Amino acid sequence: MARSRLLSCWTLLFSLAILFGCLIIPGVTVKHENFKKCDQSGFCKRNRAHADDVSAKGSSFTSPYELDTFELAFENGQLSGNILKTVSPTEKKKLPLLISFFESGVARVTVDEAKRLTGDIEIRHGSQARKERYNEAESWVIVGGLELSKSATFSPEDGYTKVLYGPNNTYEAVIRHYPFSVEFNRDGQTHVQLNNKNFLNVEHWRRKVEAPTEGEQDVLGDQEDESTWWEETFGGNTDSKPRGPESVGLDITFTGYNHVFGIPEHADSLSLRETRGGPGNHEEPYRMYNSDVFEYELNSPMTLYGSIPLMQAHRKDSTVGVFWLNAAETWVDIVKSKTDTQTHWFSEAGQLDVFVFLGPSPSDISRKYGELTGYTQLPQQFAIAYHQCRWNYVTDEDVKEVDRNFDKYQIPYDVIWLDIEYLDDRKYFTWDPLTFPNPIGMEEQLDDSERKLVVIIDPHIKNQEKFDISKELKSKGLATKNKDGDIYEGWCWPGSSNWIDCFNPAAIKWWIGLFKYDRFKGTLPNVFIWNDMNEPSVFNGPETTMPKDNLHHGNWEHRDVHNVNGITFVNATYQAMLERKKGEIRRPFILTRSFYAGAQRTSAMWTGDNQATWEHLAMSLPMVLNNGISGYPFAGADVGGFFHNPSKELLTRWYQTGIWYPFFRAHAHIDTRRREPYLIQEPFRSIITQAIRLRYQLLPAWYTAFHEASVNGTPIVRPQFYVHPSDEAGFAIDDQLYLGSTGILAKPVVSEDATAVDIYIADDEKYYDYYDYTVYQGAGKKHSVPAPIEKVPVLMQGGHVIPRKDRPRRSSGLMKYDPYTLVVVLDKNGQAEGTLYVDDGETFDYQRGGYIHRRFRFEGSTLSSEDIATHGPQTAAYLNTIAGVRVERVVVIDAPKEWQDRTTVTVIEDGAKASSSASLEYHAQGDGKAPYVVVKNPNVGISKAWRIEF
Ligand code: NOJ
Repeated sequence: MARSRLLSCWTLLFSLAILFGCLIIPGVTVKHENFKKCDQSGFCKRNRAHADDVSAKGSSFTSPYELDTFELAFENGQLSGNILKTVSPTEKKKLPLLISFFESGVARVTVDEAKRLTGDIEIRHGSQARKERYNEAESWVIVGGLELSKSATFSPEDGYTKVLYGPNNTYEAVIRHYPFSVEFNRDGQTHVQLNNKNFLNVEHWRRKVEAPTEGEQDVLGDQEDESTWWEETFGGNTDSKPRGPESVGLDITFTGYNHVFGIPEHADSLSLRETRGGPGNHEEPYRMYNSDVFEYELNSPMTLYGSIPLMQAHRKDSTVGVFWLNAAETWVDIVKSKTDTQTHWFSEAGQLDVFVFLGPSPSDISRKYGELTGYTQLPQQFAIAYHQCRWNYVTDEDVKEVDRNFDKYQIPYDVIWLDIEYLDDRKYFTWDPLTFPNPIGMEEQLDDSERKLVVIIDPHIKNQEKFDISKELKSKGLATKNKDGDIYEGWCWPGSSNWIDCFNPAAIKWWIGLFKYDRFKGTLPNVFIWNDMNEPSVFNGPETTMPKDNLHHGNWEHRDVHNVNGITFVNATYQAMLERKKGEIRRPFILTRSFYAGAQRTSAMWTGDNQATWEHLAMSLPMVLNNGISGYPFAGADVGGFFHNPSKELLTRWYQTGIWYPFFRAHAHIDTRRREPYLIQEPFRSIITQAIRLRYQLLPAWYTAFHEASVNGTPIVRPQFYVHPSDEAGFAIDDQLYLGSTGILAKPVVSEDATAVDIYIADDEKYYDYYDYTVYQGAGKKHSVPAPIEKVPVLMQGGHVIPRKDRPRRSSGLMKYDPYTLVVVLDKNGQAEGTLYVDDGETFDYQRGGYIHRRFRFEGSTLSSEDIATHGPQTAAYLNTIAGVRVERVVVIDAPKEWQDRTTVTVIEDGAKASSSASLEYHAQGDGKAPYVVVKNPNVGISKAWRIEF
């Protein structure tokens, strides 16, 4: 008896423990020990120590860097010469300097090292590695904007040299000869300074002198600390560093600026924090070394999967920026004084190469940075709709069942995804014959409702004798090599793997061949690609990636190219998708996890393996916004959170947030419970459905925003400072966003049990609730907007015309010829304006005029539609296809009272024989809600010029 009571007591305790364990999400945090801190990364430690030393010495510090004025030349907008680095009383190292001034008003400073450039150095350990500093990052990243200024002028003065450049030569670069430094001035003010703190550090090549014996060490006293020069061991991996120390470092001060943004990817606030300690600050510099960081932490400067070394500084009415073009591991320290933001950049290898932008507005930075690195690709229409993913849909029948269920519950979606389990034995370009016996049948079912399939293809290739792709990779010499020049082998999803080396043109050519329909069997034209693990992720490699002394095509060390490695792979896939079949040219869609500047030309990105927590939901907003202002706006986060199971409320709020990500995809880890929206019980299912439908309703506005991004680089969703650059109180706000130029302002709920959100309004324009037109007005303060679970808090700023499609359909493809609704949101002067861009959403015909671009304007009492497109050879054919697409409704918000007795409007369409009329309904409202009118079926063509007179 006693024994059984004891037993049941234990059983109870045990059960309680299990129950308790299930209720609590295990406390997951990143394994810090797997990733370097600054003091575990030799060059980071050295550069920080150098900065400390210089700062401590103050004016007694003697800079070793001096501009050699004898060899200074200025020709065609380019200043060339040498910086001399004094390394001993008798020895100076030559560092070739080039400062280029471009027509665009951007300047570029490049510093190299003569000895490495000419190959006059020795490489240790018999390594085949190249001798030069890496100088090919440009070939992966820069696509234009390098036209040199014809009007820039040069004037050598005593102790400094001055160059006037930029618009009407109103910019000024002052290059000081000793110590070498450069300041960039605009409007008579200094905005950006290079090396004014004397942190410049170009680690010149030196021969390794064997370590002195113990006795000698004493005699040598305070010799430089060489301990991290020749070899570095971390986590059991040793980097042989055949070229010794070669980092480059530079301080960059933004004079008069207090906010800096950019340098994604970090899980941190949009306005970057200081990194040298103190309350609320980081202790570590922001790191950029593309890595697969398992269970990444928030509010951290730790590196993540991608990097864009573009930073912009912002103050009232002025934005300036720098772009640090270097593909090696890079860290950035940030320290703010009362007036300035001082940053300190250092990279392990490569040239020093920095572009300086003088703004003056955030959109100037977007445009000029885009001119250099390319604008975002205009994606296919489906790509900006809703994507349904999980690791994994387990069979082709499973996929078809999910597809049917979306229809059954009338939830729109465009794309379903297959993660690595569709493969036969984790071999890319194959299908598991047991679980996916009929991929074509599955794709055909999807195609019936214009839906697409995305399958994952990673850069690691299973290392297996009998796998033909592995055999080809190796026999053709297309794999990345280890430090000894043999094929590099590591561990990833398939087990033992080798990595395609996309720096090699022959490897790209081969990769292209693998995607041809007769090679990648089981795929139809509605199949697109997900490139994951391309940092590259190597499970048994140092910091979960490749050894730095691995060798790529041209014998560049992996160290040199690490951060561009991911995009070389995506570029190859992009090329392959373009060339699947002759004559079948569709815009490729590729999702990538790893990225660098330039990735926007070919792909979308997502923020990797987040977690189903409210904190991760909240962090997704600054992360997506940051990508947007950093030239790579096609960004999103896993809706629902990748790891763990979200509560119903969290999942619902995540959908309501995810509809504002330019890339909108739900995804989940293999160990999570199924959470397709139709599985969630009511009322959540309907609420999620409404949220997804809101995304679909606004697809015309989204597509127009994507188009804008594709021609001038403006973000698709924009942060507060970007839209209101004069309003200082809004600069740090990163939890609300604007959709393109539509005036739509959303503030997603990212906390539990919320019933309202505070939306910050910068200007004194009227803002209207999206659904009931409640008016919010009052500049420079927060307004409480109701946000019960069923409500997505969204406002519309007065002064815009928002294009919508209001008929719910199964997929965006099925909405192609649906009629439009135009929502005219009047401003305080009774005016509004907006644009709409439409093309076939699939091909490249838009590049030859196959599109419409309209401007809608409401002025006086007339709404008009005007053509703002540039016509081309495809225009007529395209116009033909959408000739029948009409406007079925016009809603005018804050309609004047005088309209209350009107019942009709006059409609005049260009080319029509006579004017016609349409009915108007006036809704008076009250109770803080704006009156509005609805014009039913004005029956004007969306592609036509017309006027509606109220
Ligand atoms: C890592 C990716 O981040 C994740 O989204 C994916 O599900 C897994 N790899 C498996 O492919």
